[in-house]
Amino acid sequence: MTERTLVLIKPDAVRRGLIGEILSRYERKGLTAVSAELRTATAEVLDQHYAEHVEKGFYPELREFMMTGPLLALVLEGDSAIPVVRALNGATDGRKAEPGTIRGDWSLSNQANLVHGSDSAESAVREIAIWFG
Ligand code: CMP
Repeated sequence: MTERTLVLIKPDAVRRGLIGEILSRYERKGLTAVSAELRTATAEVLDQHYAEHVEKGFYPELREFMMTGPLLALVLEGDSAIPVVRALNGATDGRKAEPGTIRGDWSLSNQANLVHGSDSAESAVREIAIWFG
């Protein structure tokens, strides 16, 4: 089934010059970018996006990290786009993510983990509305 998912290429990836490599992994898999915007996130947008995490101990530091520079917000479309993007991203903690995944190849952190992908159809609808209105 064709789906849309929200991807964030996070500030660490943008700083490291990995936008092209990451985007090409999604594209070569067969997903298509239907919206994209390079922007610096505000605290307000992040509090909405990470609503399920705002009470967690790691959240203040995560929010600061997400505002350290521009990120690329993307909507990707394709067959089973939501689980496919999560598989390409790999486990949240880059130290535990499988080699061959984006985080497994390029991250050693569970905060600076390069990318975000929506975790369900409901999250995708909610997150696309937050970032793209
Ligand atoms: P993301 O897919 O954007 O969803 C929630 C984010 O919280 C996650 O990626 C990580 O960047 C971050 N995160 C999750 N767990 C931790 C943790 N224990 N410490 C710091 N950051 C975390």
